[in-house]
Amino acid sequence: MAIIQTKDLTKIYTIGRNKTVVGLNHLNLTIEEGELFGILGPNGSGKTTCLKLLLGTLFPTSGEAYIMGKTPYDVEMKQHVGFLPENPYYYEYLTGKELLLFYGKLFDIDKEVLKEKIEELLKLVGLENTKKLSLRHYSKGMLERIGLAASLINDPKILILDEPTTGLDPIGCRDTRNLLIQLKDAGKTILLSSHFLSEVERVCTRIAILHKGVLLTTGKLDELMDKYKSVNLEDLFIKTIDEYEEKIQTQGVAQ
Ligand SMILES: Nc1ncnc2c1ncn2[C@@H]1O[C@H](COP(=O)(O)OP(=O)(O)O)[C@@H](O)[C@H]1O
Ligand SMILES: [Mg+2]
Repeated sequence: MAIIQTKDLTKIYTIGRNKTVVGLNHLNLTIEEGELFGILGPNGSGKTTCLKLLLGTLFPTSGEAYIMGKTPYDVEMKQHVGFLPENPYYYEYLTGKELLLFYGKLFDIDKEVLKEKIEELLKLVGLENTKKLSLRHYSKGMLERIGLAASLINDPKILILDEPTTGLDPIGCRDTRNLLIQLKDAGKTILLSSHFLSEVERVCTRIAILHKGVLLTTGKLDELMDKYKSVNLEDLFIKTIDEYEEKIQTQGVAQ
């Protein structure tokens, strides 16, 4: 059974009185348990919209989304999902440890279990030596890493990460990449969005390319590269987008 599924999932934003913007256009996507799945696309292609619809923080205009067979508003299902937003907002006077304590309490985790979990997570993301530093002194990369730790506090089966490496330097990117592989090997299903191609190329089992809210293609990277006769992901990315742009120019309509 698919662990994440969307059926014709669509979001049209209304701006002002009569202007609309397509956020996501009839997306059909199936993600199996244990996959490390990458949603790729340029800025504004609908990645965040898709993730927010899955998490139930946005309502779709039409279509359906399911996680573990449940709708995005199912409270019990949410116990099994961890989320790292694109631009997380934290109380900046908390230390990293206090932030994790706060999130742990939201999940009602037993005090002793939580204490151990926090130590384990701080170590996992390489912040065990900055426990007492408040978040306002964190670098962008450190914030990204504490966010990742926070998304893991409830030991989720499914991790949804919106651009997890955006603020990271090359070492930070490598560490996050290794961490993602480690989490996948531990059996977690990971859905991440990224516009960093090389990032995804190295870790994802399957990818989807979004552009203007439309799913251009999805599959295993090597199979897609064969299909589009591409030498790497960047080449594939550009070819699928060019092909789509040509299609809408000749046909005059979006798919
Ligand atoms: N709250 C919103 N109101 C209006 N338009 C929005 C809103 N959020 C996103 N959009 C638009 O929807 C499209 C997809 O955005 P988004 O999902 O944020 O893309 P991505 O995460 O791939 O950069 C863009 O054109 C964006 O401007
Ligand atoms: Mg986004």
